[in-house]
Amino acid sequence: MLPTVAWQDNSIVMVDQRKLPGREVYVRCKNAKDVARAITTMVIRGAPAIGVAAAMGIALGMRLSKSTGTRQFAVEFNQTCDLIAATRPTAVNLFWAIERMKRVFGEAALAGGSVGELKDRLELEAHAIHDEDVAACRAMGAHGATLVPMGARILTHCNAGALATAGYGTALGVIRAAAEQGKVAAVFADETRPFLQGARLTAWELVRDGIATTVITESMAGPLMRQGGLDFIVVGADRIAANGDVANKIGTYTVAMMAKAHGVPFYVAAPLSTIDLTTPDGSGIPIEQRDAREITHLGSTQLTPAGASVWNPAFDVTPNELVAGIITERGVARAPYATSLPALFTTT
Ligand code: MRU
Repeated sequence: MLPTVAWQDNSIVMVDQRKLPGREVYVRCKNAKDVARAITTMVIRGAPAIGVAAAMGIALGMRLSKSTGTRQFAVEFNQTCDLIAATRPTAVNLFWAIERMKRVFGEAALAGGSVGELKDRLELEAHAIHDEDVAACRAMGAHGATLVPMGARILTHCNAGALATAGYGTALGVIRAAAEQGKVAAVFADETRPFLQGARLTAWELVRDGIATTVITESMAGPLMRQGGLDFIVVGADRIAANGDVANKIGTYTVAMMAKAHGVPFYVAAPLSTIDLTTPDGSGIPIEQRDAREITHLGSTQLTPAGASVWNPAFDVTPNELVAGIITERGVARAPYATSLPALFTTT
């Protein structure tokens, strides 16, 4: 399995996802600032992976703290959380991980923990978040694979694979599990303009796994459905609102609309850490706007004429009525999501 993010000798090591598939280069983050930069600049990306990196970044930052008193340590802890929170706004896993670190910090501080004990507790929690994410992906794979028909031709959008999680993947976890059961005839990976997560990362993961992979540009997904070329669609999510509206990589909404028009089941695979019950519907999800250069340039080559302006939202929102089901580690939620999603948090 790919080492998406790992704690090694008081640093956080990540494969540089901007360089894949051409080069497998590892970035060593030596402090919380390095981790924040790695998230902002997309060295690491994908909602669950961002959450894990956030927790590790906070734990590392505090491990390196020179504070001797808990009061000063707490001030530094909050500053580190703020630094990590300011990286990317859409994936709720980032804020979920920060809240979780704050909760354990608060509990350990309340119990009178020393600075050393607080450091240990934070590091333990970051590792737990990592390990739980891998387990959640495996469970999503098992639940999701039951939905995949035999001989399925599957489409996925962006990268919701091992690279976007602590390992195995959400949407790609479902595809991997279905492939292990011999159900997958073909996987189509949307190129995913402008950052090309599908063409570069999803295709790389699938090819490495020996799964038959075809890359298409997203404009080809509709015609492919029209000619009966797809049986199943599964994508990941960055934030799912309480009513089941799904924020995911830009282009997902178009895929979901096309799926509805052509009767292809459109599923979302995401862990509970991606479900945000405090946001009632998709209109409240903050959508990150990214640098125009992602659209105007391909590497160092300028594609667009100077003077053309650019709109570059990194995500869109798919309304819940287009979603056949939300595959989680605790099973598959179905409409009405306003009741099925909260119910997931009460089962064990
Ligand atoms: O901008 P990115 O690459 O971080 O966006 C990633 C996605 O939109 C993924 O589909 C989502 O985070 C789910 S990853 C399991």
